[in-house]
Amino acid sequence: MTLLPRATAKAILWLLLAVPAALMLRGLVGGEALPMDLLHPSGETSVRLMVLAMLPGPLIDAFGPNRFLRGWLSIRRNLGVAAFAYALLHLAIYVIDMRTIAAMLDELGLPGIWTGWLALFLMILPAAVSFDRAMRWLGRGWKRIQRLVYAAFVLALAHWLLLDWNWKPAAIHLLPLAMAWLLRAWRVSTKVTRERTFA
Ligand code: HEM
Repeated sequence: MTLLPRATAKAILWLLLAVPAALMLRGLVGGEALPMDLLHPSGETSVRLMVLAMLPGPLIDAFGPNRFLRGWLSIRRNLGVAAFAYALLHLAIYVIDMRTIAAMLDELGLPGIWTGWLALFLMILPAAVSFDRAMRWLGRGWKRIQRLVYAAFVLALAHWLLLDWNWKPAAIHLLPLAMAWLLRAWRVSTKVTRERTFA
């Protein structure tokens, strides 16, 4: 039984996903925040949405497809596209903060900066093919393209680590995924052992 029509549920989801951006932009327009103040929240929101988009897959493999996880999986592509949208907002804020292309080019060679650019670049293709028709066209290739998100995630964490020089925030965002991956690996290995024992 579905509680809401699909289009309504999707509209509500996108409204909720837009709330952090609206608050950031309100702060900027209202003069309460400088562009540089918004680099942290926009980047962090992007990373958090990436984590939320990557979690349901391994959790379903580990615990089986219950109703909650199936619902979560069904909005996964929206979460991934929203992560990309926040990365674009992050870039827009960076451009406003830096003011000139020369200033941006000047620091492009810094590891803390090029890792961000590369992470964003790797997110483009998975986000661009995140709609139903592209999924059908690409078939098995679609999953391969989505795997770019893992590389983007690692680079985003490296970017964070290199800019912040504090391993804790990046590690905290990696932790739920690392636990879900370990759990999946453990469940798969115990399943294989059980099947071998009873074969
Ligand atoms: C387009 C390329 C990017 C550039 C030029 C860029 C640049 C920056 C800069 C200048 C900061 C502020 C560092 C400071 O605190 O002074 C920052 C912070 C951050 N960026 Fe990026 N970034 C890019 C892409 C990304 C992407 C794609 C993500 C995530 C998917 C991301 C996540 C973060 C996070 C989480 C922070 C917070 C670090 C902190 O201040 O604690 N960035 N970025």
